[in-house]
Amino acid sequence: MLSGKNVLLAITGSIAAYKSAYLVRDFIKRGANVKVIITEAALQFVTPVTLSTLSKNPVYKDFLKSTDTGEWNNHVELASWSDIMVIAPATANTLSNLVSGKGDSLFLATYLSCNAPIFVAPAMDLDMFKNESTQNNIKILKNRKLNIIEPKSGELASGLDGKGRMEEPEQITTIINQYFLDKASLRNLRILISAGPTYESIDPVRFIGNHSSGKMGFALAREAEKRGANVELITGPVSLETPRNVQRTDVSSANEMKKEIEDRFINTDVLIMSAAVSDFQPVKMAPNKIKKDELEMSVSLKKTPDILKDLAKIKKKQIVIGFALETESEKKNAYEKMKKKNLDAIVLNSLNDKGSGFGFDTNKITLITPLEERKFDLKSKDLVAVDILNFIEECI
Ligand code: CTP
Repeated sequence: MLSGKNVLLAITGSIAAYKSAYLVRDFIKRGANVKVIITEAALQFVTPVTLSTLSKNPVYKDFLKSTDTGEWNNHVELASWSDIMVIAPATANTLSNLVSGKGDSLFLATYLSCNAPIFVAPAMDLDMFKNESTQNNIKILKNRKLNIIEPKSGELASGLDGKGRMEEPEQITTIINQYFLDKASLRNLRILISAGPTYESIDPVRFIGNHSSGKMGFALAREAEKRGANVELITGPVSLETPRNVQRTDVSSANEMKKEIEDRFINTDVLIMSAAVSDFQPVKMAPNKIKKDELEMSVSLKKTPDILKDLAKIKKKQIVIGFALETESEKKNAYEKMKKKNLDAIVLNSLNDKGSGFGFDTNKITLITPLEERKFDLKSKDLVAVDILNFIEECI
């Protein structure tokens, strides 16, 4: 579950800081990306060179990077980069600062800006840990939904024996891995998503295509992966980055897309056809570039296979969801399309809605099922993907 996740590790001034090097290594071994923020006090225990070598990223300490150029480390960017923030070790002083809301260091300002889940692994001597102030601070942080990784009992740096040793690095990553597993509402589910346009070749140079950017399908793949699903993405020609942990297959034509989807359909739990599959293809592709000798020319077209309809016909346990891009009688057309293609639901986009459709980063959808109709506001495609995946979770 940690593979591809962005982990922001904050190290504060405790002797347990030496263990943070192992923590970085363990996160990296599990496939996470790690950035380290270190406090002034932690520098007494561990060096940035160790941490930057292990994390393969620079270590962040101060706001200002260079007095000459005025370059600075942006706490908001660091916070929004993170999928999770881990404060390990967290000293008694750190716990107190987290509670008070102080923001006078890069670390504290980043913490205050962070909306990702936060894990705190305290480390201190037994009496400091037992102290009422420390215990109150922990209680307050727990109430604020921070995840406290309790320290262990054992021999402490002071030579005393008691509770206060930071949890072992491997155990910390295991606890965090389990956290993500528990949150993964779609784990073990196989989701097949199509995205983008298809290109139907007229000759080796030209094609019939459409303006689909693939953004909606890619957003769906990202969201499904976040929920722990095994995601396969079959995409037409687009220039988008492959979402992490998603198996991507690139195709060009409707026929190629059909083959890739068909091959996987039996082993799929959910099929979401968000691709804008071309409806027609040239009867025959010219082997050479067609010359413009004539004043006029025509290309004979035939229908492409209807991938969605053909597969929904043979569906057994699969949930099959289509998209409909309409320009008139939108709901009626979408409803009929859903019925005709034997779908469990259809996601309607109307080109008449501003900010909706090809190329935009936003979308406005109506989710239509045989039983109901749900209208959503205009929102980013990432948030539309959340609505669609929520619906799929309900179906399951
Ligand atoms: N679709 C498909 N194969 C095709 C055409 C469309 O699988 N050859 C899928 C699309 O991915 C979409 C759904 O069918 O999920 C509806 O596509 P749309 O283009 O809106 O409808 P069409 O069936 O092509 O009908 P029309 O273009 O006449 O509205």
